[in-house]
Amino acid sequence: MVFLRDEEETRNLMEKLPVVLVLATTNPGKTAEIRELLEDFPIDIKNLNDFGPIPPVEEDGDTFDENAYKKASWTARVLGYPAMADDSGLVVEALDGRPGVHSARYGGENATDADRCAKLLDEMKGVENRAAAFECVISIAVPTGPALTYEARCEGRITEEPVGEKGFGYDPVFYSPELEKTFAQATPREKNAVSHRGKALAEVKEEAEKILQWLEIHMPEPERAGCLGGGHK
Ligand code: IMP
Repeated sequence: MVFLRDEEETRNLMEKLPVVLVLATTNPGKTAEIRELLEDFPIDIKNLNDFGPIPPVEEDGDTFDENAYKKASWTARVLGYPAMADDSGLVVEALDGRPGVHSARYGGENATDADRCAKLLDEMKGVENRAAAFECVISIAVPTGPALTYEARCEGRITEEPVGEKGFGYDPVFYSPELEKTFAQATPREKNAVSHRGKALAEVKEEAEKILQWLEIHMPEPERAGCLGGGHK
């Protein structure tokens, strides 16, 4: 047990403890990636598995921004800690931005990634303009509502047929001019260097010091104390 002698000592000790940031995901891969990215900073990255189930939030926003903010702010409000969420998808110029925010549900609830790629190629049959982009928005919210937003875009073209075996989602039908291959032909490292998610996360890392200061301003003292050092009991 630690006895604290005075306020200054308490403050000094608290400053050395990490700020908890909850990722609004149960995905261990995503969590490991973000932990590694932010390992140099005093941030204790947790995910929903550390808390047990919380009521789901409906991703029914019209923009990636709206959905990312909904997930982050809901998680922060329910759990009482700052939370981070992302939303992403494929935006195809000739289809007026579709599948967009509906990327995960394009082709119906039971469709597989292969079904979604096939449906997209079908819609794009004979279409000359193949321009498309992946977009990603990351939202970091505190329980009282305010949030920080990071956005990134990755330009490319829709192929005529699926190419490559790696990755997920629309990777086999997305040709990256920067990589000179589809995302499904790229290694994770190659993809992360140019992808929407990789770029948005790189910006979060670049701004990590500022994010920490922002979190300290927006988490009132008593709540901050409650949110500090969650992994150090
Ligand atoms: P969410 O951001 O996890 O909701 O993802 C939305 C959907 O967009 C995914 O289910 C994929 O279909 C698609 N998507 C997002 N990012 C990528 C990517 O990097 N490659 C391929 N598909 C993606």
